[in-house]
Amino acid sequence: MEFFEVRGGKPLQGTVAIHSAKNAVLPIMAASILADGQVTIMDCPRIADADNMLDIVRTLGCRAERVGENAVIDTAGMQDWVMPEALAKKLRSSIFMMGPILGRFRKATVTHPGGCEIGLRPINLHLNGLRAMGVTFHEEGGLIHCDGSGMRGGEIHFDYPSVGATENVMMAAVLTPGTTWIHNAAREPEIVDLQRFMNAMGAKVSGAGTHSIHIEGVQKLRGVNYRPIPDRIVAGTLLAAAAITGGEITLDNAHAGDLVAVISKLRDMGCEIRHGLTNINLRAPKRLRSFGQLQTLPYPGFPTDMQVQMLALSIKAMGTTVITENVFENRFAHAGDFNRMGADIVLHDRTAVIRGVEKLHGASVVARDLRGGAGLVLAGLAAEGTTIVERVDLIDRGYAALEQMLASLGADIRRLCDTA
Ligand code: UD1
Repeated sequence: MEFFEVRGGKPLQGTVAIHSAKNAVLPIMAASILADGQVTIMDCPRIADADNMLDIVRTLGCRAERVGENAVIDTAGMQDWVMPEALAKKLRSSIFMMGPILGRFRKATVTHPGGCEIGLRPINLHLNGLRAMGVTFHEEGGLIHCDGSGMRGGEIHFDYPSVGATENVMMAAVLTPGTTWIHNAAREPEIVDLQRFMNAMGAKVSGAGTHSIHIEGVQKLRGVNYRPIPDRIVAGTLLAAAAITGGEITLDNAHAGDLVAVISKLRDMGCEIRHGLTNINLRAPKRLRSFGQLQTLPYPGFPTDMQVQMLALSIKAMGTTVITENVFENRFAHAGDFNRMGADIVLHDRTAVIRGVEKLHGASVVARDLRGGAGLVLAGLAAEGTTIVERVDLIDRGYAALEQMLASLGADIRRLCDTA
């Protein structure tokens, strides 16, 4: 098993480019199966979730492969509407395939994704949205059989602005006759990117980024070359790494406009941040100060995917910090690991109270989920001595070689293999 060995204490310095966003690439790959022709996803990040998604698309009969820095998906030969169960279980995003498979075949069989490390993650909103478009469901032995023979445009009001459910309905609706409205839609930048991608293929989608999305069904979509937006969470994680080590870094291919909530908290901690259209520069103070309180919310609120990184920063900041996690229930799973490194974190249900300490010390810790793993690496960068972070495979789901990005900025971090 691979693990990271981190020796803390080096301030990060330098410039690094941000790769395309996992959460944009995955739905774009799913939506690619709607095209008649070839889709090229440019600068496709080398992350495990993207590879799994390519496997899923390939199992449906598409050609799906990496060509240099790009991923190419060609739907000629696609004929299957049954999602491969073993692959679907590997990644929650496989549920995104339900919408496009239904859009294409008017039927689909998918696996119930079940729970995962960060929470229960039900799919009721996905099903309700598709139901409003005339899809019926029949569940048997962990499989969901979807019948879309009566599919038509529909009007959907989500009880909660779920990112995945919004994307699923968008993808189901673009090839469905009639008009679909999605109200209380999620507004994340990745939803806007999905709209831009599908419109480039010839779809008629408008309103993404606002509460209401409007889709006019079309008959056909064409192949396209497309570059997804940069990953705001990878960018935020690297800014946090510079902040926690007292460094100064510049990110290229990073959109400050997608990171307003994160940048605001980093400034509250004493970081100086300047940005252009596609770059961000952060200079950290000698010692961070607490930003007081933070709560995670749907976009444009503070992103849950950056919560644990901000918690890691708070550990060494001056003062007390209160963080409330409103989106996923199990996102404080690493509090015990941080405490073993010398942190002072107390949990009360969905709230963490962090009293800043002056020093952290290295320890051997185990990642339990993707972002939590990144948070442990951040703590390791700021700790005295050596930190071992196990279950690097979880971190590889969303960061293309995080250790190389950090090492290029001067961090002392190595990927090692435990052969025992
Ligand atoms: C997406 C992101 C993930 C991010 C999350 C919130 C991708 C691939 N993943 O996940 O990185 O952390 O948005 O920004 O884009 N919910 C229901 N019923 C449903 C669907 C969701 O109750 O049918 C709940 C979830 O349990 C959770 C909340 O809604 O508590 C938010 O989930 P959602 O916005 O759907 O997140 P994902 O699309 O799974």
